[in-house]
Amino acid sequence: MAWQMLECPRERGLTRRCIDALLIVLVIGNALAVVFGSDDDIHARYAPVFDWFEWASLAVFSLELGVRIWACVESPDRRGQSAWRQRLEFLTTPLVLIDILALVPALLHHLWGLDLRFVRLLRLLRMLKLARYSPALHALGAAFYAERRSFLGAGLIVAVLILLAASLLHLVEAEANPAGFGTLARSLWWAVVTLTTTGYGDVVPVTPLGRVLGGLCTILGLCLLALPAGIMANGFAEEIKRRDFVVNVKLVGQVPIFRGIDALHLAEIATMLRPRSVAPRALVVRAGDPSDCMYFVLQGELQVMIPTPVLLGPGSFFGEMGLLTKAPRSASVRAMVDSQLLVLDEQDFDRLMRLHPEVLAEIRRVAAERQTSPPPPRPALEARSQ
Ligand code: CMP
Repeated sequence: MAWQMLECPRERGLTRRCIDALLIVLVIGNALAVVFGSDDDIHARYAPVFDWFEWASLAVFSLELGVRIWACVESPDRRGQSAWRQRLEFLTTPLVLIDILALVPALLHHLWGLDLRFVRLLRLLRMLKLARYSPALHALGAAFYAERRSFLGAGLIVAVLILLAASLLHLVEAEANPAGFGTLARSLWWAVVTLTTTGYGDVVPVTPLGRVLGGLCTILGLCLLALPAGIMANGFAEEIKRRDFVVNVKLVGQVPIFRGIDALHLAEIATMLRPRSVAPRALVVRAGDPSDCMYFVLQGELQVMIPTPVLLGPGSFFGEMGLLTKAPRSASVRAMVDSQLLVLDEQDFDRLMRLHPEVLAEIRRVAAERQTSPPPPRPALEARSQ
């Protein structure tokens, strides 16, 4: 229940929305309090309000963190380990580390009496808690991670070019302009400011050759900046495309079981299906859970966790047994790689089956086959036209 209210990605109820809204307002309030509280006059005038707000925020954030840690064992993604091991693992997830980081400055202040301006500013870290509520921030982080090798490469190129530019200008300008280029370290300042196209203008080459080289470095800087920006833009666009794919007629037509259906009806079916992207190792269906939807696999690979595991690939479906028999899930299904699914909720399943009895017959046939026949040998994908 607590996990449902705080963590479950599918929960959209009123209580969950109220809790999320309260936490978001509190985080933004905290950021404003740090900004306005840094003005000594304002802080002195409203000191009791600032103190009260800080204590209230601390109480709520601590309670939130405690409940999240306690309830994480309810998550279907963490099964098969002891409760304390699951909680320990949960403690090392990025969002929980952010929650802990948001409380550390307050602990430094209240437990050890540290009251540095720096410690107060650290409270701004609470803003990072908003990451939990922003899919765009998640996508940005994922894009950065996915492109980490490209960034490392681009970073190395930039570092080498900065060093090269600094050395050249030091060679050419050291005598004429010792204040700016007398040492390699001084030249480096000029190279960083120039190649990042900032150009404070505090150090400028004075010799003709120095100016030519300086001009070239400025142009090079423009091209260099485009490199990481392009990598990030591309990674971000890819990530958004991967997450927020839109269910359209073409996509539905790719599912073998819907292939014989005309475009008009496919368009109607498309409105019943919901897109869902799942990360590797995520548990999509947990054995024993109530059955409220079924899934069609568009991309990726999932494993049905039965004694002889079965792999499901693009074109296959799962979760149909629970809907047909109105029974709890007969097995757990876990994503093996990044996968894209189409979700059909129970009400829409009933409607779709009334409209297309041929689809129902095929689903029934496959479900009966799965219950009786032994699974195909691994690692063959079950991607037949089910
Ligand atoms: P359901 O019982 O709703 O949830 C678990 C799903 O795993 C089940 O529906 C099937 O879709 C799928 N499943 C169970 N057993 C097998 C099997 N032997 N082969 C392929 N899929 C299966």
